[in-house]
Amino acid sequence: MTPPPLDHDLGDAMAASEADDVPADHDGGHPDRDGSGGASPAVRVLRRVFGYDAFRGPQEEIIEHVVSGGDALVLMPTGGGKSLCYQIPALVRNGVGIVVSPLIALMQDQVDALRALGVRAGFLNSTQDFEERQAVEAAFLAGELDLLYLAPERLRTESALRLLDRGTISLFAIDEAHCVAQWGHDFRPDYLTLSTLHERWPTVPRIALTATATEATHDEIAVRLNLKDARHFVASFDRPNIQYRIAPKNEPKKQLLTLLRAEHPGDAGIVYCLSRGSVEKTADFLVRSGIDALPYHAGLDSRVRAANQSRFLRDDGVVMVATIAFGMGIDKPDVRFVAHLDLPKSVEGYYQETGRAGRDGLPSTAWLAYGYQDVVQQRKMIEGSEGDDAHRRRLGSHLDAMLALCETVECRRERLLAYFGEESTPCGNCDTCLTPPASWDGTVAAQKMLSTVVRLHRERRQKFGVGQIVDILLGKKSAKVIQHDHDTLSVFGIGAELSDAEWRGVARQLLAQRLLTVEGEYGTLVLTDTSGDVLSGRRKVPLRRDPEPAKRAAKADARGGGSGGSRRAAVVDLPETAVPVFERLRGWRAATAKEQGVPAYVIFHDATLREIVMGAPTTLDELGTVNGVGENKLAKYGQPILEVLAELRDEGVLTAGSTPAAGGAAAPAADEAAAPVVAGPRSGVRPAAAPVGSSIAAPAGAGASDSRPRAAAADSGYDWSDEEPEPEPPYWDEGA
Ligand SMILES: Nc1ncnc2c1ncn2[C@@H]1O[C@H](COP(=O)(O)OP(=O)(O)OP(=O)(O)O)[C@@H](O)[C@H]1O
Ligand SMILES: [Mg+2]
Ligand SMILES: [Zn+2]
Repeated sequence: MTPPPLDHDLGDAMAASEADDVPADHDGGHPDRDGSGGASPAVRVLRRVFGYDAFRGPQEEIIEHVVSGGDALVLMPTGGGKSLCYQIPALVRNGVGIVVSPLIALMQDQVDALRALGVRAGFLNSTQDFEERQAVEAAFLAGELDLLYLAPERLRTESALRLLDRGTISLFAIDEAHCVAQWGHDFRPDYLTLSTLHERWPTVPRIALTATATEATHDEIAVRLNLKDARHFVASFDRPNIQYRIAPKNEPKKQLLTLLRAEHPGDAGIVYCLSRGSVEKTADFLVRSGIDALPYHAGLDSRVRAANQSRFLRDDGVVMVATIAFGMGIDKPDVRFVAHLDLPKSVEGYYQETGRAGRDGLPSTAWLAYGYQDVVQQRKMIEGSEGDDAHRRRLGSHLDAMLALCETVECRRERLLAYFGEESTPCGNCDTCLTPPASWDGTVAAQKMLSTVVRLHRERRQKFGVGQIVDILLGKKSAKVIQHDHDTLSVFGIGAELSDAEWRGVARQLLAQRLLTVEGEYGTLVLTDTSGDVLSGRRKVPLRRDPEPAKRAAKADARGGGSGGSRRAAVVDLPETAVPVFERLRGWRAATAKEQGVPAYVIFHDATLREIVMGAPTTLDELGTVNGVGENKLAKYGQPILEVLAELRDEGVLTAGSTPAAGGAAAPAADEAAAPVVAGPRSGVRPAAAPVGSSIAAPAGAGASDSRPRAAAADSGYDWSDEEPEPEPPYWDEGA
């Protein structure tokens, strides 16, 4: 690809694309006007405006369909590239593309990112004052916009509808379309009114997009948005650069800290917690541990929330500790990890949240700590939830699918993709692929545990939580065991072959398999309909052997050693000699971003900087071939970048005409040099680049030994006390 001409300003790039405007019945073929070798207008916009070489997955098909006036319903994973599917048709078709999005707080950034590309974008929402709104409306009416972002509530007002009537609309994009689904936690009532767009503008194509992939949501979107005749496009949901890991929860905060220090020092990431209280506490803990962490949840003042979000987006290496209220539409490309300290309520939720990692295609971690208390907590929440039985059953089956993912001994990714109806083979980039867990026949252990529950109930008319059951099995003469005479039960001490932590693992898995369930406020254990099959020996109980809580701190320190800076360079996978070049470019980017008041990634993504480092271009032509360097950015930042590189050559940091990599490929080989290393989301996995050794490491001291106080045993590290006061003692005595 030859670099685009440079004689233009912001408006010109679009004037050029307007030349590509085609009638609604355009078939995709278009005479070559700009030397792109007969490429379609969509491909030319992709290259010239966005600076990308090729479409991903079904992007091209979707875009051609919408360009030619068709309606579309698009399912693509988080970070999969949905935006281009409406942005490019809006640039190719005549008129203004109207984008309906619930993400008011992000509209400014989205518009800034488009403007940096030379796209004429604007937004209308409640954050603007009258004058700002008027200016945008005037630009819209004058045909000076390519894209207009609107909050859904705008479209309910007659004034907004009349405004749209007076302009030319190229398409309606309904982003985050799952907001129309009434059972989802993202439901926005205003989305329901979007079904009427078609009545008012019957010839304007509509494209609805979501990362929520289940059949049910899919159907609901089609019905509620009146999109039954739309063509459905379903992209692969695989995100190969994300490494999925689910670890037993021992001391979650410490485990988290180990993960951050050993594998992600200086990296941006998101930590999800279930409740506001745990968000605050975890953020506090991280800050005290020297991590640049911020809290985010719906209970915070909206200004604090906005400020925290903005810092996360703008500054490098901020860790956001948040409830699921955070994250929808966050398009920060370099989120290097997503950690869950609590079990997500569904696989969909988990997949969307983890999908916020690694949008730039570089290796990223999705880490979840999960334990017995999570299952108890979630089952209790479902039991106490509002709504009818059908609703509770639905919640229950969502949880079951999530639990099955946690307990599987098979490839996590295979499981995840199967959940979304996609077949695949073991991925080599998840914890179960990298360190396959053993499974064991837990039938006898299950029988012992169930029988303890049965005997307590039958002989003593009592129900207890897991702690007491495990103490009985282990034959521990604790105060509570003595107090209740439990050492005289025939099951007392029959389980000495397993440790405290292992018994809790058994209980967790029995709960997950619904062979045991919890009841009441205190989470006492009771049998289910299927427990009898295990007790009678009719049903076998295969269990996953939890990996030993390893003592890896020393090793982890060794691998994480060095400054955050060099570690970051390792993440983008650069040779040692190239690191100073990368750092200098990042410094330039940070200064430029600050000057322009935009997030750094709006200037260039890490992946683009990386490719520049590897290609070490000496001319604008060469720079223009780098992925992510479009026409406008080349015009704006090309010269400054070449100057930074020239300085580095003068200083001897960068050898003239060669990449910093040993072997020195010639500059024009930018594509070659970078291609194998810059992994696009679908260009394959590079497990070697992602730290693997400590994948399921738990911190030292997560006790499996009987002599340890219970507080150190599995699952007890998480403190719910401030949100859900657990009455002391944690059991319930039916017979008393
Ligand atoms: N064809 C392409 N080539 C290279 N990069 C691309 C391509 N398409 C999209 N991208 C990049 O992929 C990233 C994710 O794209 P996008 O923001 O559209 O995701 P999304 O599907 O809307 O995700 P979400 O569900 O989180 O909103 C962006 O950084 C974008 O620039
Ligand atoms: Mg999006
Ligand atoms: Zn796998």
